Amino acid sequence: MIELEHLSRRFGATSAVDDLSLTIPRGDICALIGPSGAGKSTALRLINRLIEPDGGRVLIGGEDAARLPVVALRRRLGYVIQSVGLFPHWTVARNIATVPRLLGWERRRIARRVEELLALVGLEPAHGGRYPHQLSGGQQQRVGVARALAAEPEVLLMDEPFGAVDPLTRRSLQDALKDIQARTGTTIVLVTHDIDEALRLATTLAFLTGGRLVQAATPHAMLAAPASPEIAAFLGGPRLGLRLLQTATAGARTDFSRTAAGEPLDADTPLDEVVARMVAAGVTALPVRDRAGRAGVITLADVVAR
Ligand SMILES: Nc1ncnc2c1ncn2[C@@H]1O[C@H](COP(=O)(O)OP(=O)(O)OP(=O)(O)O)[C@@H](O)[C@H]1O
Ligand SMILES: [Mg+2]
Repeated sequence: MIELEHLSRRFGATSAVDDLSLTIPRGDICALIGPSGAGKSTALRLINRLIEPDGGRVLIGGEDAARLPVVALRRRLGYVIQSVGLFPHWTVARNIATVPRLLGWERRRIARRVEELLALVGLEPAHGGRYPHQLSGGQQQRVGVARALAAEPEVLLMDEPFGAVDPLTRRSLQDALKDIQARTGTTIVLVTHDIDEALRLATTLAFLTGGRLVQAATPHAMLAAPASPEIAAFLGGPRLGLRLLQTATAGARTDFSRTAAGEPLDADTPLDEVVARMVAAGVTALPVRDRAGRAGVITLADVVAR
């Protein structure tokens, strides 16, 4: 869906993006991670042509983005910018309706869609009539997400979309994003500083530093074999092994030939949560049940086995 070919962009003496090549298949969620100043936002802005590259090119669905009319391109790519960037003199509802209005949707269809999106991002219908400055930072950020989703674009570019929201709302927005992605097959490029968020959402992690791509891999592969000490440190340093537990679920390590008493945990439970429950209960084995109703047991030894 998105191919970056030897993409480069300088700002004066700074190489913000340096010879970046990356292929993002349709329906993937690619998380761009890396230190501040690594070139993550610049990469997103090159994809939707807010800035033009000095070298290389971007293909969207096989077409050279430089040859597509900018307006047509922007309709296909929803964009959540790092600083939210709502139009201050427009109400929240009108901000959310930006692209549907551009597309000439009928008034009632727009109103319905705005209502749906407000609910989706956990805002009240009454928020639609307010202006951005009358909302909290986290609420504004959710309006930014709703605006990007409004016309169900093929590609979503999201630059730290949930940075300013509380952990519970953040979780529910992550779940909503996963649902939308599963339903519509949207391709998502997500910049985040929250490694747990990247692990929860992404099918591919791309680690950038100094404008260069150092490693692109599945979350499990990057955690199991980080390509540099900087990546290892970034992913948790000495605690990296705990993060590795997030990439597998109980079902894969359960012994279904045994049973144990007690309330079973779901086979889809990530292994870090399994350990957390063992710690909370002061035990080293827990009963498991899978979707088909099969019962089994998982032990701490199963969890830590590689
Ligand atoms: N418009 C600009 N003019 C000059 N330099 C810029 C401009 N935009 C970005 N840069 C520089 O390019 C580099 C990459 O910036 P970028 O915003 O892409 O980083 P980032 O990875 O998104 O960082 P952060 O995690 O802090 O958001 C930085 O050194 C930054 O100072
Ligand atoms: Mg940035």
